[in-house]
Amino acid sequence: MAKKTIHLDNRTILITGFAGFIGANLTRRLLSECIETIIVGVDNMNAYYDRQLKEHRVKELLDMQPKEQSAFVPLCGMDISDKAAVEEVFRKYRPSVVVNLAAQAGVRYSITDPDAYINSNLIGFYNILEASRHSYENGDSGVQHLVYASSSSVYGGQTKVPFSESDSVDHPISLYAATKKSNELLAHAYAKLYNIPSTGLRFFTVYGPAGRPDMAYFGFTDKLKAGEKIKIFNYGNCQRDFTYIDDIVEGIVRVMRGAPEKANGVDGLPIPPYAIYNIGNSHPEDLMEFVNILAEELVNAGVLPSGFQVEDYIEKVPMQPGDVPVTYADTSKLERDFGYKPKTSLREGLKRFAEWYKAYYSC
Ligand SMILES: NC(=O)c1ccc[n+]([C@@H]2O[C@H](COP(=O)([O-])OP(=O)(O)OC[C@H]3O[C@@H](n4cnc5c(N)ncnc54)[C@H](O)[C@@H]3O)[C@@H](O)[C@H]2O)c1
Repeated sequence: MAKKTIHLDNRTILITGFAGFIGANLTRRLLSECIETIIVGVDNMNAYYDRQLKEHRVKELLDMQPKEQSAFVPLCGMDISDKAAVEEVFRKYRPSVVVNLAAQAGVRYSITDPDAYINSNLIGFYNILEASRHSYENGDSGVQHLVYASSSSVYGGQTKVPFSESDSVDHPISLYAATKKSNELLAHAYAKLYNIPSTGLRFFTVYGPAGRPDMAYFGFTDKLKAGEKIKIFNYGNCQRDFTYIDDIVEGIVRVMRGAPEKANGVDGLPIPPYAIYNIGNSHPEDLMEFVNILAEELVNAGVLPSGFQVEDYIEKVPMQPGDVPVTYADTSKLERDFGYKPKTSLREGLKRFAEWYKAYYSC
């Protein structure tokens, strides 16, 4: 689909989930680059994982000097499942680019707290779509690009690799995946009905400094540091496409700048300005190899003592419900349309995570 260029200077950009891992890194990048741009960040600062880490990310953003007449408006405590609050933000700030990253993440937690997924991922996203729809009223130019987070989990237990955007994703195996697939469907319907240019991004296991403590690499690090055993699911027969945070942010920024072009079909009605992209490293790593590299980099960074034998701390266990044995992104569509492919090696990315962990926890 043809793209309309969206300049990120001199406009208002709304980022939901800005205190989250990906949101904070995206906000930092935009604050350091955009000129005369208002960046409005929304986050409910929930306690799904250590809130101090979210506060730390927010503080780092507040300490930044936005570039040339740009401004940062953090709205901590605001929940996107609150329809009136979302409407008010759109009415007050009139964002022309919206990046919806707020969501209840995680596959396993959807088994214990399904309500969180329905509220944030379905009702919250619906509120963003409704506010985007109404943004065109009274002749306003409104939302010119809605970018939102989907997930590699939409591919379910698919065994055909690599995963391509044209593959059927009708068989989610977790509630989390079902909500992300639903986001793609809702965005398509709204693109068709109201001509809202939207792009969904299927992220593949994002990692890096100040990342999410609920994710395996972070949890493994906490446990190894505490001298505890780590559980390796599916007896280690797993492969993951790990994507370094800076690569994800580069991909998001490029995608933000290229909105699907509006056009009408032969029936005179809009062809939905709608796109979906995988963003992954396109290089799946064996879970055991990943653990070995992580342990080596934790030793190099001084988090673990030299001579640490990671094999002694591994417990191999069966697969968990909702987990998938392999994730592997085909990123040729992203390369074709945006000339971009993630490039950070796992060793380099884990090195930066280990160094951050050492400094943050002063260990
Ligand atoms: N990190 C990954 O590997 C990965 C992979 C696939 C998809 N994703 C998706 O990318 C997005 C960002 O993920 P992340 O890793 O930064 O997660 P994160 O949990 O660190 O960030 C999400 C942020 O959204 C906020 N939030 C949650 N519900 C909210 C609500 N109702 N209203 C306002 N704020 C709310 C949270 O407080 C959090 O700060 C999510 O949509 C996630 O599902 C992430």
